[in-house]
Amino acid sequence: MLIWRQQHPELRWDWNKIDTNDIHFPKEFLWGVATAAHQVEGNTDNNNWSAWENARDENCQPRIKNNQKAGLACDHWNRYREDILLMQELGVQAYRFSVEWSKIEPREGEFDEAALQHYREVCDALLAAGLTPMVTLHHFTHPLWFEQKGAFEKTENIALWIRFCERVFQALHEKVNLWCTINEPEVFASQGYFQGVFPPGKKDPERTGVVLKNLLEAHTQVYQAIKRLPGGDQARLGLVKDIFQFDPDNRWNIFDWLISRKLKHLFTNSILEYFRTGHFGFSIPGMVHLEHFNAEAPRTLDFIGLNYYSHLRVKFQFNPQEFFIFKFLPDEIMTDMPYPIYAEGFYRAIKTLAQLQKPIYITENGIADARDDRRELFIRRYLYAMSRAMQDGSDVRGYFYWSLLDNFEWAEGYDMKFGLYEVDFKTQQRRLRDGAKAFVKTVRRK
Ligand code: BGC
Repeated sequence: MLIWRQQHPELRWDWNKIDTNDIHFPKEFLWGVATAAHQVEGNTDNNNWSAWENARDENCQPRIKNNQKAGLACDHWNRYREDILLMQELGVQAYRFSVEWSKIEPREGEFDEAALQHYREVCDALLAAGLTPMVTLHHFTHPLWFEQKGAFEKTENIALWIRFCERVFQALHEKVNLWCTINEPEVFASQGYFQGVFPPGKKDPERTGVVLKNLLEAHTQVYQAIKRLPGGDQARLGLVKDIFQFDPDNRWNIFDWLISRKLKHLFTNSILEYFRTGHFGFSIPGMVHLEHFNAEAPRTLDFIGLNYYSHLRVKFQFNPQEFFIFKFLPDEIMTDMPYPIYAEGFYRAIKTLAQLQKPIYITENGIADARDDRRELFIRRYLYAMSRAMQDGSDVRGYFYWSLLDNFEWAEGYDMKFGLYEVDFKTQQRRLRDGAKAFVKTVRRK
């Protein structure tokens, strides 16, 4: 084991010597839970994902595991009042959710007042329950008509998204201060345009770079547009950044090291650089080279959101089809997703984002654990890591657990159980999981 450890030098703490009850959070720290529209609302059947759920790949296989579809999901559209009671039962003070563009603007230029009214009512119900709403404007889904126009592949389409955001802002700004513009632009771009496992299922490095560049540009422009609107000066807007560290499997292997460095740059450093300097550079030798500059970018973050789950260890292999794979250490505790519990990485990710010198909200963190035999350990360790990063000076203002409910986990369908509440999808019954109680205990300790 010692040899393993020398080869894999990433941060590791001795958990036997750590008291995970030794955590400290300021009084005003905002505890919350998070969801996203397509994953919980139900009947989101007019967007890029609903089309994808019915599509087939080049071998005529369904795109989603076991041909699952989001369908009614958690019926959160109709049951949000009941779900707000669950949030109160947890003791949290905030709720991050996304608005479904395809319900608000089902056809280009036609806005559905009833859908906007629905989200007004959700915000009113949250405020009446003493909960702070945090609204995400793009969480992986957009209307089918927008997808058919080329979505964020085309620079000129950014204006269409901004028009939608302005409408939402006008409808909700009196009730909402915290706004997430785009959820995980690098995940959306890489899964949809490089890996091809999210819609539109392309495998095109050049396009991946263009989409990522346009998403960053869209963030910058929407920030400026909203700030110009009445009430805009009150709004706090941020982008949501996912961090999965890419660590070399063997630090003595130059290829492992080079690939992990490249991935780190493509997924994280390129975006941080954009917000530090206005310069965005995205290149993969022989595949894509793209540069973009917007001097305004560094002034377009009131906070940065962090979604953190785990890290991946990169191993080079002599195979032109797949020249690297992800490996795990033999003693790591795996989640149900193909990655381990790695709380030290949460500490590292907070430190990485702290370089931007903006307030940080943890906009997602959670575990898929159908057996509920690792959730408590996960919560204890990750909350400890966050507390330690804060003790060491990082400005974290709040934490949103992913997720309130079991829900539709994109390409994985309903098999991944991320909920603090287990959902029986036949009866729509919700039940608090035992493992979730460690979270409740911390939230209520304030
Ligand atoms: C996404 C969520 C997703 C979660 C768990 C994040 O990348 O924002 O929508 O459910 O990860 O995989």
